[in-house]
Formats: sequence, structure tokens, C-alpha cells
Amino acid sequence: MIISAETFKQAMSQFASGVTVVTTRVNDTPIGVTASSFNSLSVDPPLVTVSLNKRMFSHKVIADSGNFAVNVLGAHQAEWGMRFAGMMPDMTDRFAGIDTFEAVTGCPILPDVLAWVDCDVWATYDGGDHTIFVGQVVDLGVSDSDMPLLYHNRLWRRSESLDEPTLPSTATIIEVGPRDGLQTQEKYVPVDKKLELIEGVIAAGMKRIQVTSFVHPRLVPQMADAEELCARLPRHDDVIYNGLVLNMRGLERAHAAGLTHVDMGVPASETLSQKNANSSIEEGMRRMEAMVMQAREWGMCVRAGVQTAFGCVYEGDIDRSKVVHLAKRFLAMGIDELSLADSAGLGNPQQIRRVVQEIRPIAGTIPIVLHLHDTRGMGLANLLSALKSGVTHFDTSFGGLGGCPFIKGAKGNIATEDTVNMLQAMGVDTGIDVAGIAAVSRTIETFLGEPLPAKMHHLA
Ligand SMILES: Cc1cc2nc3c(=O)[nH]c(=O)nc-3n(C[C@H](O)[C@H](O)[C@H](O)COP(=O)(O)O)c2cc1C
Repeated sequence: MIISAETFKQAMSQFASGVTVVTTRVNDTPIGVTASSFNSLSVDPPLVTVSLNKRMFSHKVIADSGNFAVNVLGAHQAEWGMRFAGMMPDMTDRFAGIDTFEAVTGCPILPDVLAWVDCDVWATYDGGDHTIFVGQVVDLGVSDSDMPLLYHNRLWRRSESLDEPTLPSTATIIEVGPRDGLQTQEKYVPVDKKLELIEGVIAAGMKRIQVTSFVHPRLVPQMADAEELCARLPRHDDVIYNGLVLNMRGLERAHAAGLTHVDMGVPASETLSQKNANSSIEEGMRRMEAMVMQAREWGMCVRAGVQTAFGCVYEGDIDRSKVVHLAKRFLAMGIDELSLADSAGLGNPQQIRRVVQEIRPIAGTIPIVLHLHDTRGMGLANLLSALKSGVTHFDTSFGGLGGCPFIKGAKGNIATEDTVNMLQAMGVDTGIDVAGIAAVSRTIETFLGEPLPAKMHHLA
């Protein structure tokens, strides 16, 4: 059986310091013992370790039989954790009532576990009163569930304990309404109106605003006033304005317009890359390299990253490894922030968690900015999932306006007022006043003459 590195990593990422049940078989009798010493040793070949007390019967059986399976328990399986740790002395048959199935080596697998790996013993190491068994994975299974059973301080816990914070205390919101929110609007919003909106969000406490994009006016007429808008932006020492640039020409324009911060990206979808920029992803990445270098020379701050990172309307699912690969390349360019965009709003919370948890360790101290669209109503759920995985920077748009002129059916961004309201209700400080943003949204709603998708702009 060929074990895919991807699936193996997914199996191993199912628990932090989770509880497992190590199983094996002697003749026809299943044997199982609770063990939390489970670790991965290498991805290729897929090797795991578990450390077992030499006094245990299961230790002898595994040493004799040469195989074992590790079952990662879910939060709802604490009773099994206790059972297989011998904490229920009255229970003579630990497998009583459990509908196991047999893995390739013959080891019994417990049902509905978060993940399981079936192994041949590959090596053993003497660890004093314990033996470290190294298993080569020959078969495995993963579930989509992600709530491991933990054991700390002699207490069985779920990964989310009510008295321990699982959310950061602050989050940074970047207003992209003037760019992403307005770019697909057919009715031209004059510069004066755009400035009024920008002043409005600043008055509400917004410190970072994406004001425009330097794209050809024929493609996005709404952004044709980029230079004039930048020239007339109100100056505030603590407010950062950023512009979206698609190519070197756009970067030059942003620089000439006096912007110090730029945003750029490449889609993870080949089809979209062709449609959007008339070039391959690879060509796009090479263009980015040159642009990042040029922006650096000009002393600009660069935020760059992967668009359509969570699904594409043309290509469907986007392979996670592709996103990780592009993210690594962007990071190697020396960018200041890494953006991951769900440009079409196709991502789901579980997928966001997986991608973010894989990229965060690679990004190190470089912040990840998540750009979410609410096309299918999963925007705030996706935000929460990312927040719990350690992302603290988010793009939002007043009123939930937005969409991409190049992506069929892409709907608005997550709404600034709804996001800020949810974060503040959960005790996450953004420094932004919901009512202030709501007022801005009502202004543009009146101007555009159609209801906006946000919820809070008529409630705050
Ligand atoms: C949360 C938890 C984790 C444990 N982890 C290990 C472990 O990694 N290695 C080990 O040898 N025993 C570990 N134990 C202890 C065994 O589960 C326990 O000694 C077991 O009852 C012995 O099984 P036996 O009665 O079949 O010999 C753990 C127990 C608990 C409650």
C-alpha cells in the first residue's frame, strides 16, 4: 500500500497532544491500551513512534507480533480512553460493545476515531522502563472531524475548554470597501463620495484601508480615478493606505501616486490566471518577484499572496499543496504580509483551518491576512475558524459590498460592521466602532440605491 504524504500529514495533524488507543492482536484476541506518547517521526517513509511501558502485556504482544495500530480518540470518546487505561477495573473485556474492524496487519481499529494508523514495527529503542516502538505506516484512515480528546493535569478534556481562551484578544481589520467593495459597481462613485466613505471609516477607528487598485481603466472603470483619489486622501499619521497592483505598470502608478503600501497576488488556479492576467501561474510568480524587488527598492511595504486559495469557480477544488507551495515562494521573496484569498467564497471552515495550520508555521512572524467573500454564507464561520487557528488580520468591506469583475458569481466580502460586531461580542478588540461603520454603509447604500448584504448596518 502506498501511503500519500498528504494523507499521512492529515492523520498526524488530527491531534495536538491527543489521547490514542494502541491496539494489536494476539491469536484472535484484540488487545488495546491508552497511550498519549504517539508522535510522527518522518513523513517519507511514514514513521510513527509510541512509547510503551515494558511491564504491560500489550508491550510483549507488540514486540512478539511485530505490528500495532494507533487510534486517535475524539473528544466524545473519553470513556474509551479510560477503559483502555485500565481505569474501569470492573470492565474485563475492554472491547465489549465496540464494533472494531480489521486493518491490513490484522490489528483492530476502533470506529469513528479522528484518525488511525496501522503499522509494522520498523525499529525499537530501549527507553529504560519503556520501549519506543517505531512503526512504519502500512494503512491509515482520517476523518473530517477535528476535536481531539486531550488529557492534562489528570483531567480528560476537549480541545476547547471553556475557561481557557481560544481566541486572540485583538484582531486587525483592513477595510477594502473603497476598492473591492466598489470595483464592480456599475454606477460610478465620484472621488468626493469615495473620500467621504474613507473619512467615515477612519472616524470609526479604521487604521488600514485599501483605497483603490491600479488597473487599466478600461477593465475596471470604477478605479479610473486612482491617482486623483490618492492625491486627495486625508493625511493621518496612524492610518495606512494601500493600493492593489496587478503588474509593474500598476506598481509604478501606485508609487508615483505616493502610496507606501501595496497589495499583489497570483491565483492558485491556472484557468483564472489565464482569464485574469492572460498568463500562467508561473509567469505571474515571476512577475511578482520582479515587482516585490522593485517595491522593496522604493521602500514600500508589500503584502502579497495567493488568490482563489480555497476553490475556483472554473477549476473547483484547489490542491492545498499548491497553495502552500505558492505561499512559500511569496515568503521567500521577503514580503511583509502574506495574504490568502477566498476570492470566490468557496472555502469552508474546516478547509480554512487546514490550509492556515499548514502555512502558519512556515510564515513564522509574517502575518497572514485572510481575504474572505461571503458568497455561500460561510464568511464569518471561515473567519472564526482562521481566528482559532491563529490568524488575526482580515480584509472586510463596508456593507458587505464586493465581488471580482473577473470571477463569475463572486459575491461581497465579509461585511466590516458584521465582523467587528461578532469579534467585539466575543471579546476580541478591533478598535473599531460598529455604529460608525454602519453609518458609512448606509451612506453608500443610499447612493447606490440598493440594499447591501450586511446585517448590522441597520441594527447598529
Ligand atoms: C491519558 C493516558 C495516557 C497514557 N499514555 C501511556 C503511554 O504513552 N505509554 C504507556 O506505556 N502507558 C500509557 N498510559 C498508561 C496505560 O494506558 C495503562 O498503564 C494501561 O492500563 C496499561 O494497560 P494494561 O493493563 O493492558 O497493561 C496512559 C494512560 C493514560 C490515562
